[in-house]
Amino acid sequence: MERLDVVEVILTAETYNDSPELDEDDLPPRFRKAAWNGERSIDRPLTVTEGFVEEVYGEEGAWESIQDLPFTDRDSVDGTLRFTVSELARDWYADTVDEERLARNPALAYEFGDEFGVDYDEVVAENQPKEADAEWVHSLVDEVLGEGEEAEEMLELVEIFAPGEIEQGLDDIVLTDEQEKEVQKVMKAIEHRDYLREVGLSEIGKLLFVGPPGTGKTSTAKALSGRLELPFIEVKLSMITSQYLGETSKNVDKVFELAKMLSPCILFIDEFDSIAKTRDSDEHAALKRTVNTLLKSIDDISLVRDSVLLIGATNHPKMLDYAAWRRFDEIVEFPAPNEEMRAQILRIITRDVDIEGFDAHELAEETEGLTGSDLRLVLREAVLDALTNDRTELTHQDLVRAVGNFEKRKNLKELDMMEGSSPINGEEGHDHDHPTEAHEG
Ligand SMILES: Nc1ncnc2c1ncn2[C@@H]1O[C@H](COP(=O)(O)OP(=O)(O)O)[C@@H](O)[C@H]1O
Ligand SMILES: [Mg+2]
Repeated sequence: MERLDVVEVILTAETYNDSPELDEDDLPPRFRKAAWNGERSIDRPLTVTEGFVEEVYGEEGAWESIQDLPFTDRDSVDGTLRFTVSELARDWYADTVDEERLARNPALAYEFGDEFGVDYDEVVAENQPKEADAEWVHSLVDEVLGEGEEAEEMLELVEIFAPGEIEQGLDDIVLTDEQEKEVQKVMKAIEHRDYLREVGLSEIGKLLFVGPPGTGKTSTAKALSGRLELPFIEVKLSMITSQYLGETSKNVDKVFELAKMLSPCILFIDEFDSIAKTRDSDEHAALKRTVNTLLKSIDDISLVRDSVLLIGATNHPKMLDYAAWRRFDEIVEFPAPNEEMRAQILRIITRDVDIEGFDAHELAEETEGLTGSDLRLVLREAVLDALTNDRTELTHQDLVRAVGNFEKRKNLKELDMMEGSSPINGEEGHDHDHPTEAHEG
């Protein structure tokens, strides 16, 4: 561990402790990660122990690295690290740090910014807000849901991600120009929601993503949450509508309540078409109630008012009725990727794989009709096949072969579909997103 790393943590804590005007948002996210106390706040005074510093950096040897400095001390009982002469520590820090590093630490920019020409307000604006921390999001969820059976039931319906937990970025997803425009639009709308409120445009911020399985709907919604640093609440509507009937209306209510508590956030309702399914069939009155509750909740939530961005997704737009359609102000189409997009997707997903003679364009020509998710599966097959032969370097030919196998399997699936299973089974045949809930039988 670097001396400067350790000194920075102690000095940051000192500054935070001595300056009541600073709050959690003045701490860099990885400091906060180690400092959250489980109740969505950070203790003041914040004590820095050796273990704390090691948690911040994920490395050992905090004390060893600073024990030679003349102004440092460790409490041999509880491992607390502190400065014996603060002035010396501050001078050493100011002599050692550079602007770039200072600009990543709001608390210290507050203290030392003037000396370095680093603007505190800009540093704060660049710092990830506390609402994006996994610890913050999940302890809020615990707080809202409480404990026990009911909470567990809820957590079967929704999955919650903090922005920091989302791995795939927008840059990893190949979007059409139209999708790109919609993404820009919604980012602007979120940024300027106060203005939109002022001018009375509150009916903005409900998107419906429409397209075949595996075309990037879920990934795009999630990546938006990462980019906007907003928590992501994912609901699979089929789970809600198939749940024990007496409870469902209540659970729909709770999902929206949770979204409002977590706001600003993204509420992603997947499998939106399952609403339509339930409406057509001669089902229970309770189920109808659930659907009505859902539609009403959607009406009642607003990006401008509640800071909740609602995104619905469906693989089966034909099954949606007008009542559901009209609730969304933007419909974003996710088509199967064309050749150029396939080439780009292939380039992205093969980025970290060694492939001799790889030609994305040629492979794109060979993969007409495949979605991004299909292409991923093809790559996975090729990688696994190569591993079976003890190879970690692939060839272009491996991929071509994997495409062939994929097409063969797909044809088998379609054959099966013609022999009588419902069209939905067939269409979702290559939706490998949710393998556990394949609509078999
Ligand atoms: N346009 C695309 N660009 C990059 N990757 C894609 C694209 N479409 C799909 N994928 C990949 O396929 C996988 C499944 O996509 P997903 O977002 O779950 O599709 P959907 O929600 O539309 O069924 C993801 O891992 C994603 O990275
Ligand atoms: Mg999906």
